Amino acid sequence: MPYAVYKVMHLLGILMLFLAYGGVINHAINGGTKTTNIWRFSSAVTHGLGLLLTLVGGFGLLAKIGISWPWPGWVIVKVAIWLLLAVVVGLAARSAVLGKGLWWLLLLLGALAAYMAGVKPF
Ligand code: HEM
Repeated sequence: MPYAVYKVMHLLGILMLFLAYGGVINHAINGGTKTTNIWRFSSAVTHGLGLLLTLVGGFGLLAKIGISWPWPGWVIVKVAIWLLLAVVVGLAARSAVLGKGLWWLLLLLGALAAYMAGVKPF
């Protein structure tokens, strides 16, 4: 598949991840619980599919720009950010306090991931 297809896949996945996080965190901060979240299934599907598209698109892009194992440091940082985005959604859904912190932390992580891809500092 062309580079541009993987790029759109990667970016769409990231958009879906952040959309899901926004919804889940907002719900928790406003006192919502798992049972009161009538958009829970859609949020979970958006988060899960977002992770998959980000991963497949990211590795497709790596192949297209000729990077394989051993990965450079910037790829390791991006994979670590992806793993964090995969696991902290449970915390975001459960705790308003953590959700408030994650709201800003996730934005920083998103910026860091974009910086890693754009600058490839190491
Ligand atoms: C499995 C994890 C990931 C891998 C392997 C990966 C890999 C890549 C690659 C290879 C590129 C293209 C670099 C180039 O063409 O020079 C890219 C671009 C990008 N990635 Fe990732 N990435 C991953 C996760 C993420 C995450 C979690 C985010 C955001 C939260 C993210 C945000 C971006 C952005 C914003 C771009 C720039 C797109 C552009 O140039 O227009 N990536 N990524």
